[in-house]
Amino acid sequence: MNVCEYIPGLENIPAARSSISYVDGQEGILEYRGIRIEELAEKGSFLETAYLLIWGELPTKSELEIFEMDIRYHRRIKYRIRDMMKCFPETGHPMDALQTSAAALGLFYARRALDNPDYIRKAVVRLLAKIPTMVAASHQMRRGNDPIQPNDNLDYAANFLYMMTERKPDPLEARIFDVCLTLHAEHTMNASTFSAMVTASTLTDPYAVVASAVGTLAGPLHGGANEEVLRMLEEIGSVENVRPYIENCIVNKHKIMGFGHRVYKVKDPRANILQSLAEQLFEKTGHDEYYAIALEVEKVVEEKLGHKGIYANVDFYSGLVYRKLGIPSDLFTPLFAIARVAGWLAHWKEQLAVNRIFRPTQVYIGEHNMPYIPIEKRAMSQRNGH
Ligand code: SDX
Repeated sequence: MNVCEYIPGLENIPAARSSISYVDGQEGILEYRGIRIEELAEKGSFLETAYLLIWGELPTKSELEIFEMDIRYHRRIKYRIRDMMKCFPETGHPMDALQTSAAALGLFYARRALDNPDYIRKAVVRLLAKIPTMVAASHQMRRGNDPIQPNDNLDYAANFLYMMTERKPDPLEARIFDVCLTLHAEHTMNASTFSAMVTASTLTDPYAVVASAVGTLAGPLHGGANEEVLRMLEEIGSVENVRPYIENCIVNKHKIMGFGHRVYKVKDPRANILQSLAEQLFEKTGHDEYYAIALEVEKVVEEKLGHKGIYANVDFYSGLVYRKLGIPSDLFTPLFAIARVAGWLAHWKEQLAVNRIFRPTQVYIGEHNMPYIPIEKRAMSQRNGH
């Protein structure tokens, strides 16, 4: 079949047949393996959700216990990876640190056996277990501290917050963080998942797959938006400044971070849940001066851009929750990555089951039959200011 038309960004072009998650952008519906995100956020846990996404069904009690125990057992990272991370410049972005250390796992677990279910399961457990440890460790080391070792008495979400502060987290805060991980775990054919699939399709190792996806998630148009939202709210500074700030963005065609989506043309259902989590946190830990600004931003953007289907997405309120949990803003996207490892691994497994290497085509718009000009006869090119 010869599809010749070039579609920028492959918009609305299916890249896979998948049963992992489903989004209805008009109705604002998100389902993981057919279960509505609101149900999973309210009744489930992140590791239960990760199991559902990766193995296709909710685990039994004993399956979940074994999965959780496996992950607790594999949380530590090799001292050579820690030593490597100690060489990272403090000024580097934590997403670059995470991409580097995720790829480094491939050096230590080099045996590849993609047709071996035990190898697949081990890789899933190692990546889910070690990515949070690496995010927390690089954060400690950039502050000149030794990494805080995982606390095997704490569950997944609580352990991460512990490795960030060395304090056992408040149960409500740990629960809210766990829900944030569930909300960010998977989202059909987003850019970083597509990266993961393309990398997976060459049959490389799962650590390279996750490293590839981390690099893609880091961009401000994708996972990097949550950090930019907080920067925007700080720049706006007051409720009174919201309207002129947003009007200025629109006039200058600057994208407003945390808004718009390739699929959702209504408010992202995850943004609704994150907003209520933020309100729960503010009730307990006190008001947040940026929340009033955020509410005004959402109101003005909806007024000005709602007719174009531009509404708050998952990144708009997540930063306010993380900030209240004491997470530095440049770690917001690494938190997104910790959660999305579940979705990337689910698509990695799904791709391997029906693999065909991704190799799209192009519409060639260049020249043909051009002469080779000897170097002494080449005039300074006026093209592109070279
Ligand atoms: C995530 O794909 C996923 O599922 C991603 C994600 C996931 O879970 O994996 O949901 C996570 O990445 C959420 C998105 C986070 N990014 C941001 O918040 C950055 C700001 N958003 C935009 O960059 C944009 O909305 C995108 C990238 C998210 C989607 O862009 P599209 O679908 O390519 O839309 P577009 O850029 O072609 O814009 C269409 C129109 C344009 O106006 P016109 O030129 O037609 O007049 O809408 C405008 C755009 O200018 N527009 C915006 C806007 N987003 C789109 N205008 C102002 N602010 C915005 N945020």
